[in-house]
Amino acid sequence: MTIIDRKKMENLQEREARRFVAEHPRSAALYERAQNSLLGGVPMNWMKKWAGAFPVFVKSAKGAHFTCVDGRDYVDLCLGDTGAMTGHSPEVVVETLMKRVREGITLMLPSEDSLYVGEDLKKRFGLAYWQFTLTATDANRFSIRIAREITQRPKILAFHYCYHGTVDETLAGLKDGVVGPRRGNIGPPVNPAETTRVVEFNDLNALEDALKHHDVACILAEPAMTNVGIILPEKDYWKEARELARRYGALLIADETHTICAGPGGCTAEWKLEPDMLVFGKAIGSGIPGAAYGCTEEVAQRIGARINLEDCDVGGIGGTLAGNALSLAAMRATLEHVLTAKNFEKMIALAVRFNDGVSTEIKKHGLPWNVQRLGCRAEYTFCEKPPRNGGESTAATDFELERFLHLYALNRGVLLTPFHNMALMCPETTKADIDLHTKILAEAAGELRTA
Ligand SMILES: Cc1ncc(COP(=O)(O)O)c(C=O)c1O
Repeated sequence: MTIIDRKKMENLQEREARRFVAEHPRSAALYERAQNSLLGGVPMNWMKKWAGAFPVFVKSAKGAHFTCVDGRDYVDLCLGDTGAMTGHSPEVVVETLMKRVREGITLMLPSEDSLYVGEDLKKRFGLAYWQFTLTATDANRFSIRIAREITQRPKILAFHYCYHGTVDETLAGLKDGVVGPRRGNIGPPVNPAETTRVVEFNDLNALEDALKHHDVACILAEPAMTNVGIILPEKDYWKEARELARRYGALLIADETHTICAGPGGCTAEWKLEPDMLVFGKAIGSGIPGAAYGCTEEVAQRIGARINLEDCDVGGIGGTLAGNALSLAAMRATLEHVLTAKNFEKMIALAVRFNDGVSTEIKKHGLPWNVQRLGCRAEYTFCEKPPRNGGESTAATDFELERFLHLYALNRGVLLTPFHNMALMCPETTKADIDLHTKILAEAAGELRTA
């Protein structure tokens, strides 16, 4: 088995860091200028996490590629961390938006597109009623509020190392079995132990123990964890978990924002999950801000009975721009023309190719890694066996190795997500794009062994 020599990797990293700086003079200059007006020199704090000395500034993006201000072309396997899983600026969405922009962007009144979107989502996921927000974070927050309101219970249940956006209740973790703020949690409003029960994924006993307190309003879960590597549920996990939720009176909220990669109806349709509520953001409008949350007939009746007209705008569920005409036009065009069964078929076949290529290289180079796939998304983690839960996956993270591989790929024209080793396929990704990544990974592995 190949053990990575840290000293070798450090030297290689320095070489790659120098190359990156030398090849991106325009991005370097913009980053320097940005120090004067943007906090930390970036529009959003996590943009500092890219593997080079500064982020690559984008000039334009189309389909599966983008070009930076230094004129270099990249294969984009990050795809805006799923926001652009549709490919960048699909032509049909662009055309729709150009028209919509000229005809009014936001009004606080419904547009007909909202009906198409509601009807489409109902067919895809099997949930009866839908509402819209600007972000998946908001859709999660509002779903949690509804669950709390109708169950009259204070807590939610989340999985260790989950990520559901900047939802306060979910920025929690376990330390020696005790719930507290997750590492890096900035200014938590309260200790999340007050709002949240946290258990490891794939552990039905822990789940039942947590639900036995009868204070959990809802389980908020990705059907497969995607933000700490891909962690698939074990056989019958969701069947049993669903049953436990029902037995103990907690709602099940499926956050399909990333797991939509499994197919047109996400894991909910693929695995027949029957959640009480469902959240879908990011790719739903090809990256135009927008998200949706849906609920069953029963949830709709229970919440309907508790909302009165006079207070419905101040109940903590809202957003002036939520459900705006532009978002809904983008969602309609995306659902109708881009996130189709035919496109998924193509994208999934490409992810299989990615998976096979990476798996072959892992074996060839004797690396103690594994690669997992969910639909059109694939990811490698630095442990031999696929992790069963967030704790196991986090124990296998290797920040330096990850940064080295990301920078190595970036210098050779491939962008992976900044956070882990995720690769996502869009309808316009090609076999050549995938094979380029495989070739680069093989080169990196070869250098790590022999440098
Ligand atoms: C599963 C999941 N849900 C929700 C979100 C939040 O999305 P947004 O940041 O667009 O609100 C994320 C973000 O990464 C996510 O991964």
